[in-house]
Amino acid sequence: MTINGQQVEFIEGATILSIATAAGIYIPTLCYKVGLHPAGGCGVCVVEDLDTGKIMPSCATVAIDSLNLDSNSDKVTAIRNSALELLLSDHPADCEAPCRMACPSGLPVQKMLGLVAERDWEDAKNLALQYPFVCGDSLCQTPCEKVCRRSKLGGPVAICAIHRMLCDDVAVDSVKKEPSTHKFRSRMKGLSDELMLEMADEKGLRIYSCSTPIDKELAVYEARRCLQCGCGRPDDCELRDLCGSLGVKQGNATGTTRAIVRESGAFGFKFNSSRCILCGRCVREMQQHPSDKIGPAYHGRGFDARIGPPLGRTWDDMDQETVNACVAVCPTGAMVAEKG
Ligand code: SF4
Ligand code: SF4
Ligand code: FES
Repeated sequence: MTINGQQVEFIEGATILSIATAAGIYIPTLCYKVGLHPAGGCGVCVVEDLDTGKIMPSCATVAIDSLNLDSNSDKVTAIRNSALELLLSDHPADCEAPCRMACPSGLPVQKMLGLVAERDWEDAKNLALQYPFVCGDSLCQTPCEKVCRRSKLGGPVAICAIHRMLCDDVAVDSVKKEPSTHKFRSRMKGLSDELMLEMADEKGLRIYSCSTPIDKELAVYEARRCLQCGCGRPDDCELRDLCGSLGVKQGNATGTTRAIVRESGAFGFKFNSSRCILCGRCVREMQQHPSDKIGPAYHGRGFDARIGPPLGRTWDDMDQETVNACVAVCPTGAMVAEKG
C-alpha cells in the first residue's frame, strides 16, 4: 500500500490508520480511541484513494495492497475541516469562562468556585495559592468581576474576596461581616446581616470588594451563585486541540442547535450536552465492561440523538469505575468528574 507517496508494509487485516501510525504518518482522529472498536463516524480521519477519488475513514477501513492514498489532499482537507465545522456549529460552548480570560493571573475562577461550593477548602486553597493575588493592585482592577455573567442577576460573584480569603490563610471561620458599601449599610441600619445580604442580593447590590473579608459561609453562598460558564476541561479537549491545530473556527457553518442539558451524578460526575460531540466513545467503552454495569447510552435518532443514562436509570447509578472510565475516554468536556 502507498500513503502520501510512501510505500508501507502491513499485516493483513490492519486498518489504514494503524498502518499509517506505525509508519510515522500522522492522521488526525476524533471518534477513534485506541482499544475501542472503531466507529468511523466523525469524518476526521478520512483519506483519499488517489486512483478512484474515493474518500474513506482510515480508522475503520481495512487496508489492501493496491491502495494509493493521500491523507492531506485538498479534498481530504475540505472534508475534514467541514466535519469539524459542523461539530462546532452545534457546540454553543465557551471553552474558557470570561472571568478566567479577564484575570491577569489566569486564575481558573470557575474551578476555584466549584471547590469552594463543595467546601473543599484544602484543594481550593492549594489552587488559589498557585495564582498571585493582585486584585486591587495597580495590575488588577477586578476585571474578572466586571465580566462575570452573574452581574445582571444579583451582582457579580465575589471572586476577588474569595481569592483573597483563600490566599490570606486567615481564620476564615470567624471573620466579621463588614459590608464595604457604607451608604447602603447606613440605610439598612437595624437589619440583621443575613437579611441585609438577602436584600442586597435581590436588588443586585454588591457588598463585597476585594478587600472585604468574608467568611466561609458567605464564600460558599457566593460560589454557588457561579453559573459555571466555561468548560470543565478547557485544557484537556481533543476537539479544541484539533480545531486549533487545523485552523478550524466556529461560525463557518450555522444552523439549529440542540437544547442544552446539564446533569450531575455520583462521584463528582457531570454531563454537559453542549460539549458532547456524539462520538460514542463512552458508549463503546461500556461495551467492554460487564453487562450489568450502568453506563451511558444513545437515545433518539438523527438530530435528536443524545447521550444519557440507560432508560429508567440516572447518572447516580454509575459506579466510580464507570465514571472514571467514561471521563477518561471522552474527548471533550462533556463528561467530567471533579469536585465542583
Ligand atoms: S458566573 Fe462564574 S464562571 Fe461565569 S463569569 Fe461569573 S464567576 Fe466566571
Ligand atoms: S459524552 Fe463524550 S465520549 Fe460520550 S459521546 Fe459525548 S463527547 Fe463522546
Ligand atoms: S476518527 Fe475515524 S471516523 Fe472518527
